[in-house]
Parts: sequence; C-alpha cells; structure tokens
Amino acid sequence: MDKLSIIGGAPLSGELTVSGAKNSALPILASALLAAQPVRIRNVPRLKDVATMVRLLRTLGAETQGEGGVVQVSCADMRRFRAPYELVKTMRASFLLMGPLLARWGRAEVSLPGGCAIGSRPVDQHLKGFAALGAEIAIDGGYVKARAPNGLVGGRVTFDMATVGGTENLLMAAVLAKGRTVIENAAREPEIADLAQCLIAMGARIAGHGTSIIEVEGVPALDGCDHRIMADRVETGTYLIAAAASRGDVRVRGAQPSTLEAVLQSLVTAGADVETGADWIALDMRGRRPLAVDLETAPYPGFPTDMQAQFLAMNAVAEGESRVTETIFESRFMHVNELARLGAQIALEGNRTAVVRGVAALRGAPVMATDLRASFGLVVGALAARGETVIDRIYHMDRGYERIEEKLGALGADVMRLTAARPARPPA
Ligand code: EPU
Repeated sequence: MDKLSIIGGAPLSGELTVSGAKNSALPILASALLAAQPVRIRNVPRLKDVATMVRLLRTLGAETQGEGGVVQVSCADMRRFRAPYELVKTMRASFLLMGPLLARWGRAEVSLPGGCAIGSRPVDQHLKGFAALGAEIAIDGGYVKARAPNGLVGGRVTFDMATVGGTENLLMAAVLAKGRTVIENAAREPEIADLAQCLIAMGARIAGHGTSIIEVEGVPALDGCDHRIMADRVETGTYLIAAAASRGDVRVRGAQPSTLEAVLQSLVTAGADVETGADWIALDMRGRRPLAVDLETAPYPGFPTDMQAQFLAMNAVAEGESRVTETIFESRFMHVNELARLGAQIALEGNRTAVVRGVAALRGAPVMATDLRASFGLVVGALAARGETVIDRIYHMDRGYERIEEKLGALGADVMRLTAARPARPPA
C-alpha cells in the first residue's frame, strides 16, 4: 500500500492548474447512459473513482474510450441493468447510475452502498424521488431493484434535506419522464448545475438548476453531446488552504472563483491576501501565520464539508482558538486524532464540533488517512510541520486528488510517494 512522505516546514510557493471536478465528472459519466449517441466529456480528472465509474459503464454494456482527459461513452444498447456490489462498495457515487438506467430502460438494480467512514449516508431521498416519478422499488438481497415498465411520469418531489446525489439522480431520471417534474429543496451545488448544462446540451429541458427549485420538462429521447467538466472547486480550495497553512504564496489557474466564495472569505479572515481573476485565484500570506477562523459546514453556498478537514488542519497551526462545526456528515472528524499525533491541540465536543487551539509548530509523525478529504487534512498538517510525516493509506487520496506529488512538488513541497519497491526515502 502506497504512503506519502512529506518533509514540511517550507511555504508553498508557485502556480498550479486545477483539474476537472471529480464530483461533476461522476454524475456526468453516469448521465451518458441517457443518450443513444456518443457523449464526449472533456477535462475529466484521472482518478481512481473515475476509473471505477468507467468500469461500471462498461459492465452495463456501454462502449467507452479513455479514463481521463477526454472520455467518450456510447450507450446505443445495454446488456445489463445491474451495478454489482463489488464495484458499488468501493464508490458510493455508483448509486448515480440508478436514475439514468431507470429513465432510459425502465429498470435498474444497484447495490445498496452500505457503510461509509464519514457517516451513514442513506439513499432514502433518492428512492423517494424515483417513487414520486412512478417507479416500483424493492430492496432484495442487498440490491435496490427499481422498475418503471411503462416509463417514468413527471411529479413533484420535496427533499427532506438538500442532497447533492439525490438531486442529481432525480434530475437524470426526470429528463426522460413523461411530463413535468418539479424538485423542491434541491441542492444548489455547482456540480449539479454542471450536470444540468451537460443534460441540456443533450437536449434536456431544465430550468432552475443552481437554485433550490429545479423544473424539468421530460423529452422522449436525448442526443449525444460534447461537454467540458468544470474546475474542481474542492481541489482549488484545498491547495489554497495548504498554501495559507504553510504561510505561502500560490496561484491556482483554471479555477472558478465564483464557486468558492465561502472558502475565500474564510481565508481572508485568516489573514490571507486573496486576488481573483476570471479563471484564477492567487493567495499570499506574506509569510504571516494564519489567524484562527470559526467555521460551520453547510450545503452550497455555505462552507463545504469537503474542505472542513483541510481548514481544520490550518486552524491547528493558526494563532488563536477556533470552533469547527460539521453539520452535513455525522462522523467527519477522523482526522482529529491523527492531527493530534503531529502535536495539534484539538478537543471534540460530541461528533459535531471540534475546538482547535492553534499551536506555533507541529512535528512530523506517522499518521493514517481515513477518507479522501481527511487525508488531505493530514497533508496540510504535514506541510506545516517540521520534519517528516508519513501518511499511510493514501489510496483514499488517490480517489479524488490528481497527481498530488507532482502538483505539490511544483509548489516546492518536499513530497515523495513510498511504494513496495521504495518503502522509505533514500538516506540523505
Ligand atoms: N442524505 C440522506 N438521505 C439521502 C441522501 C442524503 O439522509 O437519501 C443525507 C446524507 O447522509 C448527508 C446529507 O444528506 O448527511 C447530504 O448528503 P448528500 O446526498 O448531499 O451527499 P452525497 O451526494 O452522498 C456529495 C459528494 C460528497 C460531498 C457531499 C456534500 C459526490 C460524488 N459526493 O455526496 O463528496 O461531501 O455531496 O457536499 O458528489 C468527497 O468528494 O469527498 C465527498 C464525500
């Protein structure tokens, strides 16, 4: 199992180009099942999760070319309608295949995703949405089996909470349903708007994406299209936070500043000079130690849960005390005990709030990654720490961050991937 060795203590400095958004690429790849003609998707990040989604599409009978960069998906015909447990258990976003399968073929069997390190993450809202469109749903042998033998029919759905995946799945189901669908309390994340843009390019009729009420007028069929995936706002924010924690000076190119307002505001409060252009963001700490900032995660446009771990790690080396409250997932503080191994002073109040007392310096130590974003929280801690930190189980990080060593290396970080063939750094 690969590990990441980081010798911290130096400010990150330089430029990097952000990758395409994982959380946009995954639903958009699934949406390709809706069209009979080829769907060409550009700016697809080369990530483990993307490879898993492409594999799932092939398992179902789609023809695919590429696993990153440009990916083309052709779904003229399908052989299977079942997404197997073996693949779904490795990636929850597999559940996004349900909407497109049900909409185009009137049948879908997708394994229930099961447990997750960051919380229970049920799919009841997805199922409530499909049922409102007339699907018959049963759970059998660990699989959700859904049928709509005469096709889906538009309906009105009010989600109990803003759910990103639930909104995406229902949107993909509604575009081919007969008549009009209204999704109320829809999630407003930019990745949902990106999916809607791709569906519109295929011929779907959608209004209100990016707001909490989405209206869809079903069409009988969708065409192929060519779509470019939006910039990854989580990756962008992650590198900016890492730069702030290390007192650095970084410019991220290819970014979409409008999707990061809450995070940029928090970074300014932390003392960063932040400048934005049409497609870039520059952050400069001018060598200063960051100031501690309170934050509470919330659905978009609030502070994203996917950047909580990284920001908490910055707070760990900031001047002052801060409260970090997680409201989206019930167990997303697994990084706290690992950061403590670097010398961070963090107390948990239940599973919702972490009270962070900033320390002047962290010291490198061996730590373990527990999930994707938590693992980058450890990278942020490691970059700010003196000495070597070795992060174990970085397969979590490889699911969602493209070319980590290369990107961090370009910013001057001393990072090395340790593998079975090279289990430790060569002696200096
Ligand atoms: N929820 C339910 N029932 C449902 C659906 C959701 O109770 O049927 C709850 C969840 O348990 C959670 C909350 O609603 O407490 C929000 O979950 P949501 O459905 O919005 O999350 P998701 O679609 O499963 C996506 C991202 C996550 C990101 C969340 C929140 C993708 C592939 N995943 O997950 O990204 O944290 O939205 O923004 O888009 C990551 O990239 O590391 C990651 C975990």
